Amino acid sequence: MSMTVTPITPVFGARIAGVDITGPLDDAAFADIRAAFDEHLVLVFSDQPMTDEQQIEFSERFGPLEGTRGVNPGSGTPFARQSNLDIKSGAVIPPDDRRMFYQKANMLWHADSSFKAIPSLCSVLTARIVPPEGGATELASSRAAYESLTTKEKADIEDLEIEYDISYSRGLVGFEFTPEERSFTPPVRHRLVRTNKNNGRKSVMIGVHAKGVVGWPEDEGRALLDDLLARATRPENTYRHEWRQDDVIVWDNQAAVHRATEYDTVKHHRLMQRTTISSGAPVNPI
Ligand code: OGA
Ligand code: MN
Repeated sequence: MSMTVTPITPVFGARIAGVDITGPLDDAAFADIRAAFDEHLVLVFSDQPMTDEQQIEFSERFGPLEGTRGVNPGSGTPFARQSNLDIKSGAVIPPDDRRMFYQKANMLWHADSSFKAIPSLCSVLTARIVPPEGGATELASSRAAYESLTTKEKADIEDLEIEYDISYSRGLVGFEFTPEERSFTPPVRHRLVRTNKNNGRKSVMIGVHAKGVVGWPEDEGRALLDDLLARATRPENTYRHEWRQDDVIVWDNQAAVHRATEYDTVKHHRLMQRTTISSGAPVNPI
């Protein structure tokens, strides 16, 4: 059976079928997946039950993996876990636990690891336990945001640098890091405009970790970042994924943003396991 790539929306996203990503992929098969990723930004696969080892093997085809440290329930592993289940005991984590509070910020539009010294290329999220209702993930194209700008607007932002800071973004939901946690992820600066090395297409790396434009007054920086996010998240540039068990999504972290949505964390179980692929050498070893 050969691989098929079916666009999900006219703007971005594609459903990939006819390929088993739980097993070894030959170079030609992975090249097709990588090309689809560069073109569509978000790849959705179904019926791909993954062990941890298989998830790592598939993810490493895209590049080196980040480790996870800090408050995430997957801390100390190569995985970030979006889950209300304790990683050791499997018990439901009470809603007032710091780990649940921390995850609330996932409901704000963001790009994973844009706050790290080397930002992420993409994430791979595998649906291990899906709640019977709620817990969809929404994705939006920040390539479309860039492409909606006029030639002059594109030129005006071409060389801008952004300060990204997870202490800022977590602060927006009232979460405070300890000084030690904060020392893992000091503020960093990156170019706003990102260029996909394989096809030259440009995008903006935006989302809640983007705190301000370097050298600009705070309000002007916010206005630009808010405008770009509003462009990215126009309904026509957005896709909402209702998960089924064993779905796998790969999303671009430099040309797309995403956010979690509510589910009943007391009544239902949810375990989504993420690997995060660095755009360079891993910067956040376990
Ligand atoms: C993530 C994330 C959204 C979700 O894994 O990075 O933001 O719906 N997940 O769990
Ligand atoms: Mn995320």
